[in-house]
Amino acid sequence: MGNNQILKGKRGIVFGALNEASIAWKVAELCIAEGAQIVLTNAPVAAKIGQTEELATKLNVPLIYADVTKMEDLQTLVDGSVEKLGGKLDFVLHSVGMSLNVRKKNPYTDSNYDYMHTTLDISAMSFHRLMQTLIKSDAVNEWGSILALTYIAAQRVFPDYGEMADAKSLLESYARSFGYHYGKAKKVRVNTISQSPTKTTAGSGVGGFDAFYNYANTMSPLGNASGEACAEYCISLFSDYTRMVTMQNLFHDGGFSFTGVSQELIETFTDNALGK
Ligand SMILES: NC(=O)c1ccc[n+]([C@@H]2O[C@H](COP(=O)([O-])OP(=O)(O)OC[C@H]3O[C@@H](n4cnc5c(N)ncnc54)[C@H](O)[C@@H]3O)[C@@H](O)[C@H]2O)c1
Repeated sequence: MGNNQILKGKRGIVFGALNEASIAWKVAELCIAEGAQIVLTNAPVAAKIGQTEELATKLNVPLIYADVTKMEDLQTLVDGSVEKLGGKLDFVLHSVGMSLNVRKKNPYTDSNYDYMHTTLDISAMSFHRLMQTLIKSDAVNEWGSILALTYIAAQRVFPDYGEMADAKSLLESYARSFGYHYGKAKKVRVNTISQSPTKTTAGSGVGGFDAFYNYANTMSPLGNASGEACAEYCISLFSDYTRMVTMQNLFHDGGFSFTGVSQELIETFTDNALGK
């Protein structure tokens, strides 16, 4: 994939490329292969724990650190990106998520509310804050495309996903609500992609991730969508081929979301298989 130049002449910001496994890492690489100019961004702490800088060097693109919970960081990022890229933006990928209660293994029914605040702030409100900064700065061209990554726990219960389910519900709601206003005011579109479980730092932080991953893989007629395939879908949504798509939560999950049960799973529940 790549090298069809479908993003030729477009400028964008890619959040959240921490290491090679990150979905955003694959998106950034494909943006460049498709002819876009990008700025990479990540939390300042990523300078210590991640390889964002290596990616910026490899792709020869600017890197501007920003903590998504800080309005002034986002303003500096948006202003700096427009300046470094030499014009207004055409796309932005929000690929950011973190849950303190999940990380600390607090049961959902015994959540710490300071942690929950931080989780909602980083994983959901940051999306609103980012779009508010972009719209107030008039930093996105008409028909520009803003995307965030989400998970189906926003609609269905996955016990180990904890408070991130609530953060993702809010994130998806912001895509609809802000998408309406951004569309009306500036013809900018806003969507979320609901991705299959993917083996990344954030993904693997969820308890029982291997079972989670294998279950979804067995349920989905096409199997789990990989990070690479997610990047390809992101590129299509940044491109002009999807200009009328906005305010949507788009499932990119190999069919998981609409499958009741797969034949393979049925076979594990026969009386025979259960030894009854
Ligand atoms: N991996 C999965 O199974 C999966 C499935 C569906 C959706 N998603 C979503 O995809 C997105 C990307 O996650 P990933 O799986 O590539 O994992 P990842 O750990 O590689 O990416 C998460 C990123 O969030 C960044 N981040 C955390 N706090 C931040 C802050 N305060 N300011 C700025 N950046 C901050 C991290 O530095 C990291 O780069 C997340 O929104 C995640 O919830 C992941």
